[in-house]
Amino acid sequence: MAVNVAMGSAVSSVLARGAGSDLWLIDVGIRRSVRHPGVRVRKVARGTGNIARGPAMTVEELDAALEVGWQTAVEAVGQGHDLVILGEMGIGNTTAASAMSACLLGVVTADVVGPGTGIGSEALARKSAVIDTALEVNQPNDQDAWDILRKLGGFEIAAMTGAVLAAAAHRVPILLDGMTTGVAALAAVRMVPATRPYLIAGHCSPEPAHQRLLHALELTPLLDLGLRLGEASGALLALPLVSQALKTMAETATFSDARVTNPHGPVIAGEPAGESRNDAPVALGFSPAEKDAVYKVIRARRDIRVFLPDPVPDDILGRILDAGHRGPSVGFMQPWNFLVVRDQETRRRLQELVERERVIAGQHYPDSQRDYYLRLKVEGLMDAPITLCVTNDPTRGGPHVLGRNTIPETDLMSTACAIENMWLAARAEGVAVGWVSMYRKEDVREVLGIPDHVDPVALLTLGFTPHFPDIPVLERVGWRKRLDLTTLVYEERWGTPVRQ
Ligand SMILES: Cc1cc2nc3c(=O)[nH]c(=O)nc-3n(C[C@H](O)[C@H](O)[C@H](O)COP(=O)(O)O)c2cc1C
Repeated sequence: MAVNVAMGSAVSSVLARGAGSDLWLIDVGIRRSVRHPGVRVRKVARGTGNIARGPAMTVEELDAALEVGWQTAVEAVGQGHDLVILGEMGIGNTTAASAMSACLLGVVTADVVGPGTGIGSEALARKSAVIDTALEVNQPNDQDAWDILRKLGGFEIAAMTGAVLAAAAHRVPILLDGMTTGVAALAAVRMVPATRPYLIAGHCSPEPAHQRLLHALELTPLLDLGLRLGEASGALLALPLVSQALKTMAETATFSDARVTNPHGPVIAGEPAGESRNDAPVALGFSPAEKDAVYKVIRARRDIRVFLPDPVPDDILGRILDAGHRGPSVGFMQPWNFLVVRDQETRRRLQELVERERVIAGQHYPDSQRDYYLRLKVEGLMDAPITLCVTNDPTRGGPHVLGRNTIPETDLMSTACAIENMWLAARAEGVAVGWVSMYRKEDVREVLGIPDHVDPVALLTLGFTPHFPDIPVLERVGWRKRLDLTTLVYEERWGTPVRQ
């Protein structure tokens, strides 16, 4: 089954592909060796102990399994993923999950045990008996989620608990699948209650424990379709609802944007109820809605490193390039050229150059920060369908360029302005742009045949992305925060803060 998922032919593979989301399959404790390059082998051990005879894990094993999940979620967040979807595939794991549920919820086995993938009544009776025995033998402390997880859980459950804790710690929401992910999430919430607001319940399975778990988590499931497959299938089916909800919040025009009369709107002094305030005179060619759109695109522009393979239509690319060409330039010298690279082999060579410099740059950081840095995804050259090399020709305007006498680097500044114009235009088009600057210029000149006197200022990756994060990825992963603007604005003389 694990190989089937890795090969892309399981239900979860199909749904993840359809949703455009990455699927990582982590082997935390499959008894046999799973031979497929798509499987990330992070085995804690070959299966847990038999819970009917003793604890499932040692303290060390529990720590290791939690750590696998934690690290995996941190890696995903570091790569710019802003939603973690949990799913599992563990044969017989509704037994472990039911036993944990009984303990966490403080109910008897009969309240939580169900047919799992569909066992008959005889097997169900045996399953109940095993759970009762497990509770009797292990005597878990029902006030202690660590103890419950260690004695009754599975490695996959513990890993998912670790992933919930890590994602929530990084303020990234978690979309839950069925009963087993619900148990993992409830264990996480019992350990760190602040994780709860980050949870979304994808669906409710018919397993009796699941409804109770969701109730304890105070979650309303998005779907209730009688699914009992696991493998994140319910969560992946709910994913479009989550993304549509976000899109609706982000993109729907307000009554005032759309100049719709809102009969429920606030009454503004001097205006009849429901009148839009947007009837103000159009200021120098921009309506209030157009003005808002400009600020919206400035705020929504992001540096993107996660791309979908879909091509960028030529008309869109044309408009983006035109926006670049309309950038301001010193003495109107227009020092830029735009080199559009689609060829995969060329992009691979560029990616190699960047990868080399990325690793070299890692040496500048102290040990503690190096690991963190090396985990960051800093380019998407092979993912994005287009690499745009923006160049700067300092000789373009002849020997004397108006305005450039004393500050020669104004040519580069001009090219940077063109790049920002493209970045903003692309955002308005829904096209993602990533700026890659980790390369030696001479290497890029050689790969792209650029003359010596021309500077390859930027490699921009262009394409569609599953998501534009609302804050910079480097801020999201805790690398740096946006500085407080008030500390950067001075009045009259350097260093004098603006009076409030
Ligand atoms: C001149 C310049 C060079 C950059 N080089 C890189 C780069 O090599 N790799 C990278 O991941 N981001 C690079 N960035 C993007 C910044 O990391 C990003 O703009 C910043 O974190 C703010 O995020 P935001 O653009 O999403 O607001 C570069 C940005 C600029 C302006």
